[in-house]
This record gives sequence, C-alpha cells and structure tokens, in this order.
Amino acid sequence: MAEKHLVHIENSGEDYLCAPDQNLLRGMEVLGRRGIPVGCRGGGCGVCKVHITAGEYEARKMSKSCVSDEELAQGIVLACRAFPRGEVSLTVVGKMVKTVCAGAPCGSD
Ligand code: FES
Repeated sequence: MAEKHLVHIENSGEDYLCAPDQNLLRGMEVLGRRGIPVGCRGGGCGVCKVHITAGEYEARKMSKSCVSDEELAQGIVLACRAFPRGEVSLTVVGKMVKTVCAGAPCGSD
C-alpha cells in the first residue's frame, strides 16, 4: 500500500493521514474527522474549498465556477478534487453556509 501523507488543517489545528489515492476530503472522512466542510464530494458545490499553503498535491479537474484559474494558481482547490503527494498544510476557505456556487449549475462545465 502506498505511503500515506500527513495533512494539517490550519484552522482547527488537526492533523490526519491521507493515502495518495484518496482525495483530501475523503481521507479526512474515512477517519471520522472533521475540519473541512463536506458537501457533494464531487467537485460541484464548492464548500470544501481549501487553500494549500504548503506541500505537494495533485488537483483533478474542477469546475471554474467553484475555483477560478487565478485561485488555482494560488493553490486554492476543492479538497474533494485534490490528492496529497507529500505532507500538506491547508486552510479551509470555503463557506459552509453560503456557498459561492449555491443554485448555480456548478460542475456542469
Ligand atoms: S464537496 Fe462539493 S465541491 Fe467538494
């Protein structure tokens, strides 16, 4: 089995281990941990938006209505669409209550 990577959530001070084939959101969920808000789990709602402040990761395709190219360039990704490639530090930036994508056809592009 591939080596798991340490993920640090700066807002809550929590750490957890995430396998490289599990996205950052799923890795947290399977451990029964909280910290990153969980929504659609499919890159469509934007509530799991995080800013990766340190570390290597791989971001899969995500809707531009959730994360713009500018944000991507800054290391802002959807946790359900990002996979750890080393030890990672992140800050939760998505709004749990009022999501940027509420009501929009997010994830359709
Ligand atoms: S949980 Fe909806 S975009 Fe990640």
